[in-house]
Amino acid sequence: MSNDEFPTDRPAVVTCGLPYANGDLHIGHLRGYIGADAFNRTLETLGQTSAYVCGSDMHGTPVAVNAEKEGVDPEDFALEWHHQYEETFPKFNVDFDNYGHTHDETNVETTQEIVRTLDDEGYIYEKEIQVAYDPDADQYLPDRYVEGTCPYCGEKARGDECDEGCQRHLEPGEVEDPTSTITGNPAEYRERTHKFFEVSEFADYLTEFLDGLEGTSNARNQPRQWIEDGLQDWCITRDMDWGIDYPNGNDEGGDDLVLYVWVDAPIEYISSTKQYTDRVGADEYDWEHVWREDGDIVHFIGRDIIQHHAIFWPAMLEGADYNAPRGIAATGFITINGKGLSTSRNRAIWAKEYLEEGFHPDLLRYYLMTTGGLQQDVDFSWEAFQEKVNGELVGTVGNFWYRSLLFAYRNYEGTPETEVSEDVHARIEGAIDDLRDAANDYSLRGVGQAATELAQFGNEYIQRNEPWKLTDDDPEQAAQVIRDCVQIAKAVGVLLEPIAPDKAQLLWEQLGEDGAVADTNLEAALETPPRHFEEPGELFDKIEDERVDDLTAKLEARVDEASDDGDEDETESDDTGADEATDMADTDDLEPLLEDRIGFDEFQDLDIRVGQIEAADGIEGADDLARLEVDIGFETRQVVAGIKQLHDLEELPGEKCILLANMEPAELFGVESNGMILAAGDDADLLTTHGDAEIGEKVQ
Ligand code: 2FM
Ligand code: ZN
Repeated sequence: MSNDEFPTDRPAVVTCGLPYANGDLHIGHLRGYIGADAFNRTLETLGQTSAYVCGSDMHGTPVAVNAEKEGVDPEDFALEWHHQYEETFPKFNVDFDNYGHTHDETNVETTQEIVRTLDDEGYIYEKEIQVAYDPDADQYLPDRYVEGTCPYCGEKARGDECDEGCQRHLEPGEVEDPTSTITGNPAEYRERTHKFFEVSEFADYLTEFLDGLEGTSNARNQPRQWIEDGLQDWCITRDMDWGIDYPNGNDEGGDDLVLYVWVDAPIEYISSTKQYTDRVGADEYDWEHVWREDGDIVHFIGRDIIQHHAIFWPAMLEGADYNAPRGIAATGFITINGKGLSTSRNRAIWAKEYLEEGFHPDLLRYYLMTTGGLQQDVDFSWEAFQEKVNGELVGTVGNFWYRSLLFAYRNYEGTPETEVSEDVHARIEGAIDDLRDAANDYSLRGVGQAATELAQFGNEYIQRNEPWKLTDDDPEQAAQVIRDCVQIAKAVGVLLEPIAPDKAQLLWEQLGEDGAVADTNLEAALETPPRHFEEPGELFDKIEDERVDDLTAKLEARVDEASDDGDEDETESDDTGADEATDMADTDDLEPLLEDRIGFDEFQDLDIRVGQIEAADGIEGADDLARLEVDIGFETRQVVAGIKQLHDLEELPGEKCILLANMEPAELFGVESNGMILAAGDDADLLTTHGDAEIGEKVQ
């Protein structure tokens, strides 16, 4: 598969990590689903044939444990959540071409067929392993039925994932000091025969696959490290009733085992695409072309499930003779008011709640897509939301749309009858190129910016040319300026559609256009709008300060209440792949404060400056280190920082940072480091400023 630029002449499929059907959706989930939706819409705007498919993840212990807590059958429990998700996603303009679930017939059949093929091809073997068992509950303890300590990083971990630490997948028997989550008793180990998929056989294939993989850099870098450390084979069966049965194959050994949820979950990407083809016909969209020939497969996932998508999944696809993904975009987490989103502490913005507050979904879409790069964690606060909406959507886009169309309506009853000027035509073409480049860089922030910056240009253009002063003295020039502005307004609508589909459609209708802006492609941005249109209305409303104060107070009260209830149980978290950042309020996790105090003079000895990253690249031979060029006003410094695995280096240029400028120079891997960039926590959250501090200013 050659990675020629989007749009390609092959069909694409865009997917998003399946939500476990086990609890309410919140904005951590929505970031991923909106992101993949916006990406799919962008591809379609570019003229690419593309489908967006997903489904609910019905199996595994995340569902079984929660169903058990409520005393209901896991299937009924999961189906109920599935139906809720089906209703909720469209309310955020998340427009799946197919939304299935992993327990439906298509997925059961496809899963069993793929596993049978892997078995026939000799990639599956049986092994006796030690499995955790709770004698009091008289049951085996797969995955979330057991917790203990991660053998890799020492953090508290679930049976199959180090969810609070290094995010690694853990194999049965790996978690140390296991305790049963059913009774809280220490678990025993018992011998059982399980099925293993020979992932280790695919090490060379996967190395090559990762070299060609597009998307975010974390989806390539972490797996490369895991391959270097040595791949283990993967246990693909569990001692549970709830799940898809291991298919009867070459032997009888798998009869009482179900498949591990991570086998049948990604296969739903294929099953859901099949269902889409069944509905529209292979002439319109052929799932086999995509999955078995040479389509472009793009997965959006949370960064906690990279291993499943960049190691296990491509190995399964290769082993069963399916096409490999072209891109994996692994998004960062969502934090709330600077702290980790926590469902158990009610520190979350729930999907339902957002809608009940009466905010338009496109506002949240715009906020989530344009605040930070895909790989970065995005903080949500009602203040930041207000700032974004009032500044960019109301102040820039809405203001430009309204003033241009209103002027055009009042003076010309619509679009003035003249051609667009060459300069403006070229500026719109530039914005189209920006959108195309952003899509090919998997940058949804870039997609949003292509539209907003064009609106900003429009605002400056109308302000500079002051058509209101020209209507009497130079009517021709006035008409020209407004003609240009109406075209820019239309182009902004076409470019903004992937991020804000409803608002773009409203603009479309205000321009008197027919049909759906979502069905157009980039050429429409330069096509002449209708000669006549009606008086426009404003498309965005300002969010008032009092509203934000109320919302913030409400959120804080809710978090306090949950903490007062003593509900510190983080284990019930729904862990959706899109999100759930570790809660940092627990000081047990923090380095202790230093007892020794320093004087002001000693602090003054530190020359800490505001900087701006100009360039960022990796260092040959160093897995974790990046070379940065940082402008600190007086000069540009080269520094080496241990952030290569933790940040998307391509996203860093342009970011403000804080640099300790009088650090002694050091040489790392042959590269001189002349300063130290400041960062917090294990994820190296880069320190920055939030106001107007100039580059080079001292931090004091
Ligand atoms: O981590 C999760 O939330 C899983 N339900 C994601 C599954 S994604 C895929 F493989 F289907
Ligand atoms: Zn770990």
